[in-house]
Amino acid sequence: MMSKHEKTYVTNANFMLHGGDYNPDQWLDRPDILADDIKLMKLSHTNTFSVGIFAWSALEPEEGVYNFEWLDEIIDNIHGIGGRVILATPSGARPTWLSQKYPEVLRVNGARVKQLHGGRHNHCFTSEVYREKTQTMNRLLAERYGNHPSLLMWHISNEYGGECHCDKCQSAFREWIKEKYNHDLKALNDAWWGPFWSHTITDWSQVESPSPIGENMVHGLNLDWRRFVTDQTISFYNNEIVPLRELTPNVPITTNFMADTHDLIPFQALDYSKFAKHLDVISWDAYPAWHNDWETTADLASKVGFINDLYRSLKQKPFLLMESTPSGVNWHNVNKAKRPGMHLLSSMQMISHGSDSVLYFQWRKSRGSSEKFHGAVVDHDNSSENRVFQEVAKVGQTLEKLTDVIGTNRPADVAVLYDWESNWALNDAQGFGLETKLYPQTLQKHYKAFWEKDIPVDVITKEQDFSSYKLLIVPMLYLVSEETISRLKTFVAGGGTLVMTYISGLVNEHDLTYLGGWHKDLQDIFGIKPTETDTLYPKDQNAVTFNGKSYVLKDYATLIEVDSANVEAVYEDDFYAETPAVTSHKYEAGKAYYIGGRLEHAFQQDFYQGLITELSLEPVASVKHGEGVSVQVRQAPDSDYLFVMNFTEEKQPIAFDYEVKDVVTGEKITGELTLEKYEVRIVEKTRTN
Ligand code: GAL
Repeated sequence: MMSKHEKTYVTNANFMLHGGDYNPDQWLDRPDILADDIKLMKLSHTNTFSVGIFAWSALEPEEGVYNFEWLDEIIDNIHGIGGRVILATPSGARPTWLSQKYPEVLRVNGARVKQLHGGRHNHCFTSEVYREKTQTMNRLLAERYGNHPSLLMWHISNEYGGECHCDKCQSAFREWIKEKYNHDLKALNDAWWGPFWSHTITDWSQVESPSPIGENMVHGLNLDWRRFVTDQTISFYNNEIVPLRELTPNVPITTNFMADTHDLIPFQALDYSKFAKHLDVISWDAYPAWHNDWETTADLASKVGFINDLYRSLKQKPFLLMESTPSGVNWHNVNKAKRPGMHLLSSMQMISHGSDSVLYFQWRKSRGSSEKFHGAVVDHDNSSENRVFQEVAKVGQTLEKLTDVIGTNRPADVAVLYDWESNWALNDAQGFGLETKLYPQTLQKHYKAFWEKDIPVDVITKEQDFSSYKLLIVPMLYLVSEETISRLKTFVAGGGTLVMTYISGLVNEHDLTYLGGWHKDLQDIFGIKPTETDTLYPKDQNAVTFNGKSYVLKDYATLIEVDSANVEAVYEDDFYAETPAVTSHKYEAGKAYYIGGRLEHAFQQDFYQGLITELSLEPVASVKHGEGVSVQVRQAPDSDYLFVMNFTEEKQPIAFDYEVKDVVTGEKITGELTLEKYEVRIVEKTRTN
């Protein structure tokens, strides 16, 4: 068995990747600029460039007329300075001629309106023509560059997303549905609860994707459509990679995942837990709104931690930060510049959670069009002297000291379970509070209680192995199949501690409610029956008493009938005052806690502190510090790399009770020191056991 500290290299580079999207196809008539790029790459301590992402027009200006010479030169030049190339397939943005000649590649939206050519990321995933065209292009790229010494990995398309409702997609959906329900209309109608509102399907031809001008209230249909969209996107991706697997079997493949930005929650539209299985490496594009006016820097940092730990846990190995910005972006409501120090801090935070890269969108700012003011390494001034360039260079110099961190992992005893399907179904549910479901945001809050205490957490998905965790936290798992319930039961029976909350276990994988009360196995595990979910108006509040303290409750309260559980907390008000709000129950070798209401953060802090003590969930390395400082650790076979990060606007005292070595300066440190605003220290601690 692999030791938990063994390294896993996700690419064959022996350096931390630093660089990013390089789009020289904007500058082909400016050889002076292309020459400057190469000089500036060295000065910025960058080494890896993703090329060709939106270059289809430059590569195939007319159908069947190819022009690779410019790309040859770019790749050779990068190679000439010892750099590596992440070569993209260009399907994310088609040339105009392609849409004009083959209109089937254009999407049809949910209202069945065919879209015009424009923008990007908007092709039909079913179109045979588009699949053929992308495969042809990808084969040419693999034939030409597959053996190039600088080729590091493949970057497939760009940020897959969206959906198409054209006739081809409708047929593909129908086939998918037939397959799923074994060609049995009764099974389909049972799953979709057909007879309600006379929605019974009597012929497969009646199956249509959901539409704002048609069917959109059949929850089983909506859920299956989302699943189909994920599968169809993966199928498109799998079609893209055929020639790459054939011609370059040893070159790893990724596609860049996203986050939904305001709250930095996982991208909702595709089930990345399924997609991840088809990638060699997880990579994602992180654009947190640092210095925003709705949360503290530390609050945002813990959300960044959450999503990193989710994307890392998809494969339980290091991932890549594929895109980020060295300063502002251009698409937030307000595009604030990163304050001095924030770029290094935010970049090191990504590394601390398992990234083996810091890559940017984009290398050089565009001169025109939509992203001309998006932060980039090289600004319109073409200077290596400006603040942003200097901060990038500093990140590069720091990464050069972190070679031993490459491939290291972050073993955890605590897991939080995130489920895309449950999120879809819950958002679709007509019930509860339409504005207050906030499933991913709820998970972020549970996660934060551990982030604040420097305890590593994996954010896992339902099919992952639970058995290695001491504590599994499953908030708001609205949709849960019998199979998952049985795996949760095995986990607790085997000695695990499980925490579940309100609005969990209400529907099965078809979004059909469980009949006869809460599932019998859940009743066995928790020793309770949740009987009602009360939903509160935003101005309402209740409270619970837990260990003699009162905690504010908002949004949701579950009425609980206790069978064999212990009551840990009770509601204070309303018609269910004094009834159980939080329970615990020993089940075989383990224990299961149920939290009935949405409680203020202080509850999570105190409640989980109890479990931290009970289950001895220590931080990997304890560092004394105040609020807003985070310590994240990557564990190499013989030493721990501690990233001590000040996510506050003040100086922060910290203290090590043991000797560590500063990885950047080489200095040996013990005892107290002060972190400046936004300062990060990276230190190595030799492991004794
Ligand atoms: C990403 C996208 C890039 C660029 C960037 C700007 O979502 O992949 O191509 O548009 O956003 O932040």
